[in-house]
Amino acid sequence: MVDFKKSKMNRFTYKEWNDYFSRNDKRRLKIDFSQEKNLPEAVRRRIFPSVREFQKGEGSDGKYLMERVEIFADENQVPEYKEAMERFVREENWHSAYMKKYMDFHHVGAKETSFLDRIFRSLRRLGGVKCEVTVLVTAEMIALTYYDALSRNTDSIALKSICKQMLHDEIPHVMFQSYTLSHFQNNLPDKLMWIILMEVTLLFVWGAFRNVYRSGGYDFSMFLKENMGYLQQSIELVDTQRR
Ligand SMILES: [Fe+2]
Ligand SMILES: [Fe+2]
Repeated sequence: MVDFKKSKMNRFTYKEWNDYFSRNDKRRLKIDFSQEKNLPEAVRRRIFPSVREFQKGEGSDGKYLMERVEIFADENQVPEYKEAMERFVREENWHSAYMKKYMDFHHVGAKETSFLDRIFRSLRRLGGVKCEVTVLVTAEMIALTYYDALSRNTDSIALKSICKQMLHDEIPHVMFQSYTLSHFQNNLPDKLMWIILMEVTLLFVWGAFRNVYRSGGYDFSMFLKENMGYLQQSIELVDTQRR
């Protein structure tokens, strides 16, 4: 499990986050398909339901989110947050595009609708930025174990490079969102709600995609332990950065 406390990013201001996203934007992944072979049918059946689900979840125009972001930026007098979130949304759309390219290569169609994605989007809209970001960062923490497991499901160099890039980008995202959450009260009921949200989502994700996790070396207790460990770290970051 990655230790967020060791990263200097957990002390970044929005200005520094802007600089980071701008730098990171210059090192986008070029996926090398030159050695990509057809996948065995069993592997296709195992990985593509979750790949399609995550591809759908990664992509969003962020229009609704940006309306909330503007309100937060004005209230907290942090105009740089708007640009940071625009850059963040762009990065997520790159993630969606990487997955789409992989699916295209293997002639797998994108999902029009997704049950999990719909639930996540509805939950995000229940409140302001705090609600949006809490739900977002919960999904991003789960993505950390997912891409780690997915990368070990095949020998595909292309897929491994995508998963590596995802992990490289998602770890900072968790710290970025935790910083935003530190602007809000995070009392015991908030923490309990967050833990329940994580646990319920984990049950759905394990129920739907456990074969990918198992093939990637995760059993249920390891899956639970890693994800709850990330949540614990994020809660600690919010508490220590609390202003
Ligand atoms: Fe992402
Ligand atoms: Fe992310």
